[in-house]
Amino acid sequence: MRILVIGGGGREHALAWKLSQDATVFCSPGNAGIAEDVACVGTMSVEETVQFVQENEIDLVVFGPEDPLVLGRGNELRSHGIRVFGPDQAAAQLEGSKAFSKEIMEAAGVPTAKSFTESDSERAKDACRTMFAEGRQVAVKASGNALGKGVVVCSTLEEALSAVDALKALGSAGDTLVIEERLFGYEFSLLTLVSEGDIFSLPVAQDYKRVGTGNEGPNTGGMGTYSPVSLVTAEVVKAVEESVVRPAIAELTQRGIGYRGVLFSGIMMTDEGPKCLEYNVRFGDPETQTVMRRLGSGLAEALMCVACGEPIRPVEVLDNAVTTVVLASGGYPGEYAKGKRITIGDIGKTGSGENVKVFHAGTVLKDGQLVTNGGRVLGVSAVGATVKESTQLAYDAIDSISFEGMHFRTDIGA
Ligand code: AMP
Ligand code: GLY
Repeated sequence: MRILVIGGGGREHALAWKLSQDATVFCSPGNAGIAEDVACVGTMSVEETVQFVQENEIDLVVFGPEDPLVLGRGNELRSHGIRVFGPDQAAAQLEGSKAFSKEIMEAAGVPTAKSFTESDSERAKDACRTMFAEGRQVAVKASGNALGKGVVVCSTLEEALSAVDALKALGSAGDTLVIEERLFGYEFSLLTLVSEGDIFSLPVAQDYKRVGTGNEGPNTGGMGTYSPVSLVTAEVVKAVEESVVRPAIAELTQRGIGYRGVLFSGIMMTDEGPKCLEYNVRFGDPETQTVMRRLGSGLAEALMCVACGEPIRPVEVLDNAVTTVVLASGGYPGEYAKGKRITIGDIGKTGSGENVKVFHAGTVLKDGQLVTNGGRVLGVSAVGATVKESTQLAYDAIDSISFEGMHFRTDIGA
């Protein structure tokens, strides 16, 4: 099989690396690390992608990020008869619009936080006042894509009122706001392959969203992940599939919208059971860097089944543990510099060589030298028999990596 992966971050590195065990893989645009594992082909327009697929006899295109899906790139490729892993534009609105996503959850009876959708600031503020008067706290959310800055979790009414103003100031992403009851509990992400009516959930990974050790500081795209998550038993996964995944897909189907891709359910485990915080229409980053290393053979075939809308051939799941620690640029998630020289020592020297894989997120080669090119730079992943062991191996490997300003959490997997 010949596969083209679209994207160039840590998630795409993990996908391309894993798929290359079963298939010949190309990546567009890729990055310096991805280029060590598969052929990278630069950024391509839709027309160039179609031409590339035809000339290189590509069997399957796999989308990494959500943006092209939300913009309908999946539909465009499908209209040329290309097999695509990733939902059409209509289904991708589950991630592109939080207002749509809440509408689907409510119509489908998915357990989720109480919410109001408002486009007027004053009405949004009234919704916050109502929530606090009922003894609830709130999460104020921009409905559109605000690049990770669109959610403010507020414990006081004053914070909520200023969050409304701040999100309104974002521009189009904040045209519509969702004022949501704040939920309490622990979070996890469930990644489920969805081929129309058939589903297959991948191993659960837990993400650390705050930038600092001990959950201090602002939210990020994710600073590390580990799997398995002992609290999330097979029964919990089953319950989430039945209450969160299947009803949403059924609701879309009823509206004439199919789904062929991965559905990422962001779950908060509350005292009342699992509740859905959000859907994403792509693999998680850095969840994927961990999840791919828990899989044996069969991923390429499974993604192909999904692209064809056929029953999914199960992927082998390994009885191992994985930890991925993200190494970020100084200043991330705020402003950060690029172009810092990266040294990755002989990780084998730390005694953990074959268990360790360094996934590149924001790197580029400049005059033959590896330098930083993003906020999240590398994801150091390690496999062990237990999470304790994989975590130790990942941190041992980090000892041999450095760049100016590098920072990371020291409590991933702890
Ligand atoms: P979202 O993009 O909707 O997943 O929000 C990003 C993060 O904000 C989530 O991972 C949670 O940590 C937090 N969050 C979102 N909604 C809520 C909520 N209703 N209650 C508590 N925390 C939330
Ligand atoms: N790590 C969270 C996400 O991919 O949205």
